[in-house]
Amino acid sequence: MSATSDALFQPYALGDLELPNRIVMPPMTRSRASQPGDVPNELMAEYYAQRASAGLIVSEGTWISPLGKGYAWTPGIHSPAQVAGWRKITQAVHAAGGRIFAQLWHVGRLSHTSLLDGHAPVSSSAIQAEGVNVFIAESNGTPGFVQASKPRALKVEEIHAIVDDYRQAARNAMAAGFDGVELHAANGYLVNQFIDSNANDRTDAYGGSLENRLRFLAEVTQALVEGTGDRRRVGVRLAPLTTLNGCSDADPETTYLAAAKLLGTIGVAYIHIAEADWDDAPHMPVAFKQKLRAAFPGTLIYAGKYTAERARAALGEGWADLIAFGRPFVANPDLPARLRAGAPLNTHDRATLFGGGAHGLTDYPALAAA
Ligand SMILES: Cc1cc2nc3c(=O)[nH]c(=O)nc-3n(C[C@H](O)[C@H](O)[C@H](O)COP(=O)(O)O)c2cc1C
Repeated sequence: MSATSDALFQPYALGDLELPNRIVMPPMTRSRASQPGDVPNELMAEYYAQRASAGLIVSEGTWISPLGKGYAWTPGIHSPAQVAGWRKITQAVHAAGGRIFAQLWHVGRLSHTSLLDGHAPVSSSAIQAEGVNVFIAESNGTPGFVQASKPRALKVEEIHAIVDDYRQAARNAMAAGFDGVELHAANGYLVNQFIDSNANDRTDAYGGSLENRLRFLAEVTQALVEGTGDRRRVGVRLAPLTTLNGCSDADPETTYLAAAKLLGTIGVAYIHIAEADWDDAPHMPVAFKQKLRAAFPGTLIYAGKYTAERARAALGEGWADLIAFGRPFVANPDLPARLRAGAPLNTHDRATLFGGGAHGLTDYPALAAA
């Protein structure tokens, strides 16, 4: 396939950003922030810069406030040291010719008292994510998985304060040199805990009707527009069909088409649909994707077990503008060049995904070196 006719390598205007190709590196937690303080570091800068040939990189989830942290060694975007750490990463990515958004994260109930100075996690409701584990560092420093703690329901004034935290996190991201922010409203985390009917039993303005369950999403998204100062610098990640982390909705098509319409009204740059997380990959019918296209006027990104072939078909069918490749990007720093050449891909090592040092992060070979 010639370079000019390959759909994956057509340039794309995302707001005022010029992407050289349709390939996105989606957010991937790698749990290598410096301790103490959960500070992004030089090693992470090298990892992201190696992957700067993506049309767009979205950073691993970065928590907006101490109560939003759910996994050991994940980076925050809350303290001045964290913002300074992220600045090294955005500079390295830009120097390598790339573009990078920060994924803003609040885990809500998917946390553990040991990560929260003994406090209970917070959520839309006091409903525990049963059978769901989170990643902690034991007191002896070894990593381990434990059942997420029982959350308490947020009071309305606390919800308003979290919206303010998101606004501030967006300001921090722009101060750190990010090209924009992506709201993590997928995969069962806090915003998702308001949207999905089985996680939200509130009876006030933030629960009950669909409009009420979408209120937190709307307020946070609006806060991100204010914090970045530009709605074209805001994207939102949604996971309509996965049941990850115990979040599911009784009528996902209705709920997520309404969310897409709402986000279109706010005018954000993109919606990033997570179709799969690991093995949880329910079939998402093309008819649903076409309805999302009709509901939302902005850019649509899809992620979940895509190959180059499936990605080209998605772009050709018109329901996707950009395609994200997660696990392939872990193991292939030069993924776009490999997809373009039809070259074989390295496979990732599961044992080094979370935590550790350079091994399994920055030492996967590029094609020329392989
Ligand atoms: C190691 C790892 C960490 C991840 N961390 C995040 C995250 O922080 N935020 C998020 O929205 N999705 C996260 N995901 C999901 C990916 O963004 C992506 O949706 C998923 O891997 C499916 O794409 P793939 O089949 O191409 O890997 C993670 C996935 C992996 C493999």
